Parts: sequence; C-alpha cells; structure tokens
Amino acid sequence: MQKSGSKKMWGGRFSETTAASMEAYSESVSYDYRLYKYDIAGSKAHATMLAANGILKEDELQQIVAALDAIEQEIDAGEFTFSQELEDVHMNIEKALIDRIGPAGARLHSGRSRNDQVAVDFKMYLRDQCDAIITLLDNVRCAFTSLAEKNMGAVMPGYTHLQRAQPVLVAHHMLAYYEMFTRDSQRMADCRKRLNLSPLGCAAMAGSGLPIDRNQTAQALGFDGLTANSMDTSGDRDYAIEFLSVCTMIHLHLSRLSEELVLWSTQEFDFVRLPDRFCTGSSIMPQKKNPDIVELMRGKTGRVVGSLITLITIMKGLPLTYNRDLQEDKEPVFDTVETITASLSIIAELLEDLQFNQEKMAKATETGCMTATDLADYLVIKEVPFRKAHAIVGQAVAYCIDKGKELPELTLAEFKQFSAVIEDDVYQVLSIDGSVNSRNSIGGTGLLRVKEALENAKQALASK
Ligand code: ARG
Repeated sequence: MQKSGSKKMWGGRFSETTAASMEAYSESVSYDYRLYKYDIAGSKAHATMLAANGILKEDELQQIVAALDAIEQEIDAGEFTFSQELEDVHMNIEKALIDRIGPAGARLHSGRSRNDQVAVDFKMYLRDQCDAIITLLDNVRCAFTSLAEKNMGAVMPGYTHLQRAQPVLVAHHMLAYYEMFTRDSQRMADCRKRLNLSPLGCAAMAGSGLPIDRNQTAQALGFDGLTANSMDTSGDRDYAIEFLSVCTMIHLHLSRLSEELVLWSTQEFDFVRLPDRFCTGSSIMPQKKNPDIVELMRGKTGRVVGSLITLITIMKGLPLTYNRDLQEDKEPVFDTVETITASLSIIAELLEDLQFNQEKMAKATETGCMTATDLADYLVIKEVPFRKAHAIVGQAVAYCIDKGKELPELTLAEFKQFSAVIEDDVYQVLSIDGSVNSRNSIGGTGLLRVKEALENAKQALASK
C-alpha cells in the first residue's frame, strides 16, 4: 500500500498515514488556492473577534495578524509553496501560520471549522465576482445604447420563425438586448444580496460552545447579516447554484446574440461587418473571414450550462449537513467565472466596433410583403373585422407572390379587387417608414418610443 509521509493536523486518532492516491484524489488546493485572500481576511476577522472575547490574548492576536499578513505577501509574490499533502488552501495557510509562530497560530482555529471557513471564503469570493460581473454587464448594456444611438432611424426586418415578419428599427433590436442584459444585472444584484449573510461561527454544523460573536466577524467582513441556522449553513450551496444560474442566463443571452451575429455576417444576410481582429481566415480558402469568436461564445455556453448542471447534480440527494462532495462545488464556479468574464469583456469590445450595413438591411425590408399587417390594421380602421381583414390581405399577398410583386407595387385597381374600402391613402400605410412609425404602442418600434427607450436606458446607466 502506498502511503504518504506526513501526519495530518487532524490525524490524532489515525494509526496510518494517508494513502498517496487518497491525497491526490482529495486535494483541492490546486484550485482553491484562488481563495487565499478571502481565507486570510476571514482568519484575521476571526482572530480579532476571539481576542475581543477573551479566547486569544492581545499579543497572540498581534502575532497571528502579522504572520497572516506576511503569508499573504508571500503568496502575492508567488513565493509561497502550496502543498498537496495539506489538502486545501485553509490547511496550507494554517500550517504556515503555525510554522511561523507556534502555539499562538495553533489557537486560531478555536470556535471555527473548515466547514464555516470554506463557506465564508467562497461567499466573499462570489460577492466580488457578482460586483465584477455587474460592471462588465454595464459595459455591454452601454455598448447596446451606443449602437442604438449610432443607428437611430435605420430599419431592418424583424423576424419570427426566422422568417421576415415586420419592419423594425435597428435601434429597437439593439435595445432588446439592452433589456436582456439589464435583467441579468438585476438578477446578479439580487443573488449578491441573498448570499451576503455570514456563515462564520456556525462551526462544523451545530454552532460553537465558545463565547464567540458572530455579528462582529460578519460586520468586519462586510456581510449584511448572519445566516440563521448552523445546520443549513454548513451544507448550503444554494448561493453558488444561484450564481451559476444567473451566469447561465447571461451566457444564454450571449449565445443568442452570437447566433445573430453569425447569421448577420453571412453573405446571405450581409447585415453586419465584424471587426477583423475578432475573426479568423481559413487555412485553405483565402477568401474566408470566419466569425470564430462569436461561434466560440455560442459554444462556451455549453460549458456554463454544464457547470450549473454539475453543481445541481452534486447537491441532489446530499443529507444535511456538510459532506465532502461539497468540495466539488469550486471548479465549476471558477471555470464559469473565467469564461463569463472573458465573454463579457470581449463582446463589449466587439460591439463597440460593429458596423451595420444599413442599406442592405433597409433593402431587406422591401421584400416579403412585410407591411401586410399594416394593411390588415388599415382595413380594421375602415371597420373591416380583423379576421376578415386578415383573409383579404392573405389573398392580396398570394396575388403578389403569383405576380412577383410587393404590396406597395399593386395599383389601386388591383387593391380594389380585394376590398372596396381601400383608397389612395393605403400607400403611406404600406411604406416601411409609415409602418415602423405607426407602431407607437408602449414598447413598440415606433421612432418616438425607441428614442424614449434609449433615453431611459442612458439615464439608468448614468445614474449607476
Ligand atoms: N476543502 C474542503 C472543501 O472545499 C474544505 C472543508 C473540509 N471540511 C471537512 N470537514 N473535511 O469543501
């Protein structure tokens, strides 16, 4: 049997040292080292609270804080050696502390367990990530308002079922994304609010018998309050699942946007030009310009969804309270943070330089009888019941398809074959501008509404 040399800090009751295979299998320090700053901040707050409550002496506290600061500097400088034998970031730092200052260091873990320690670290880490992602989302939202502004008045086909449906303003389409990423930002803020309750002091799962003050550490670490039940707290990862679901939603939105950019940059659509620096060529076809970056963004959505599913699956069926399965919570979260941070930064930069082919988009609105609904509405105003109007326009559209014409190209005499109430004023209704500008219901694509929506968006961003 392979064994590994060192005795563990928890090894008092063990007669064998840990198997090397067990050590390699169970270590988490290779990834949870990312939590070191939070771990040190948590330990300093805990030590300060212990001293304030007579569990540590003042000079012991001084030694602990000074040594933790020195350890942090060493890690910052890349001079600290994390050891797999010590399993995780918490044990590595605690061992380094004890090596430096001896007995005072060995007192730090009073009234605390790694179960509440890891939860407090993870929550502080996630809290910072929520803030960073909200800032990145702001940049993306801002990019959409700029695109709306730059393209104000330009028209394009709006689609349902990816079939041309009704003409819309390009700005309206851009502000649709603004709304999606705004909801994401609100969701992230909400997730942060719910997670920002301190688990520290719940100890292993039942609370502590020592005279600790949970409020003091919570306040020192910037939490809004305390978790209420030590058993819930020890095994709770709802906050990480919630964070990953918000990230999943964000990446779904990025994926839909990516898909549209892929489509729009095809020769078939030719609606946008993506900046060269975000595209690649082909190793064999010299004429190619491929939208790799947005394809990758669409693809990476799979990773993010996968991480959410991973964590949900880990949690399913876990009895209360802490179980070691929970250590598997970190890699999906770290991977998601890296992915989404890159995706949001890149997309904001790409959108800044996105060029719309306004002429091509406008041209695309002129085919496909896109103002058919306007004709039906026109008949409704002339008191034709909508269902009847729909049928009349359907016949006119079939006639157009047969003759190879568009609705505005029909003569008044041709229109009269379908309905006697149609007069000369129909042509204004059938024009693209007429159609777009008539849609002034709240949330519609009418120019006035879209300008209003843009103003609201800009104000919301400015007031942040
Ligand atoms: N590395 C562990 C984790 O990330 C820390 C908590 C360990 N607690 C325990 N009781 N073994 O979950």
